[in-house]
Amino acid sequence: MEWHTPTPRIRIARADWLDAARTLDPGSVRLLYADPPFNTGARRSDRAGAFEDAWPTTAAYIQWLGERLAATLPALAPAANVLIHCDWRASHRVRLLLDDLLGEDRFVNHLIWSYGLGGSSPRRFARKHDDILFYSLDPGDCYFDPPMVPATSNRMKGRMKKATDVIDIPSINNMAAERTGWPTQKPLALLDLLVRACCPPDGVVFDPCCGSGTTLVAAARAGRAGIGVDMSPEAVELASSRAASAQPEGGVTPVETP
Ligand SMILES: C[S@@+](CC[C@H](N)C(=O)[O-])C[C@H]1O[C@@H](n2cnc3c(N)ncnc32)[C@H](O)[C@@H]1O
Repeated sequence: MEWHTPTPRIRIARADWLDAARTLDPGSVRLLYADPPFNTGARRSDRAGAFEDAWPTTAAYIQWLGERLAATLPALAPAANVLIHCDWRASHRVRLLLDDLLGEDRFVNHLIWSYGLGGSSPRRFARKHDDILFYSLDPGDCYFDPPMVPATSNRMKGRMKKATDVIDIPSINNMAAERTGWPTQKPLALLDLLVRACCPPDGVVFDPCCGSGTTLVAAARAGRAGIGVDMSPEAVELASSRAASAQPEGGVTPVETP
């Protein structure tokens, strides 16, 4: 496996998550954030690339995901945090999978990323959120720095408050400067919030389906070390180039990747 090092603290490789996970140092990862294909049943494509997103059954998809999560467990630090991004199609099954693999007592939050944009339906409530399942290997000792968001109540107007488990951040629109053209690219604001909240400043973030590299850019900006992997060579090139130009923001102490 060939690693690209766009910065001293970020490394990225083209690989299957399964193979890459087995090469990581035991106990080295403080935050696993995975945004895998959701099993939408379609090939996802945009101007920067494409990936397959179809399994014959939900059970086959869960088995694929389970093998990769299980292979990643030895790389997790004793109090590591785990964030698995999914949606209405499989979030119920992914939660059961995580209960089985990690233990239901390690569940911390079911985060709702409410993104707003997109169409509506005359037949049902419009589907406007993704699910991010948050587990910690040691909920009593896990790192958590509560994100602060603007308060909306009249009493708190103009002040900040701790974020709830519903995160309101718009998805990336067609005209957004951060848009890379990678299908299902997540907004940097979302990953900035998750990385800072769930990975300590001296910690390593691992994103095994890194796509355009949003998590690695967020890690670089927050001074965290990052490891990214993707099956697609176009994704690896894009993620490396984005990470190389990401600027650390003030007040953080950089650490090297292990
Ligand atoms: C939902 S996208 C990730 C998008 C990313 N979070 C971003 O902001 O750009 C899922 C990614 O998983 C990758 N992928 C699919 N199967 C994989 C596998 N077995 N190992 C590693 N990456 C895989 C795809 O190439 C795709 O880039």
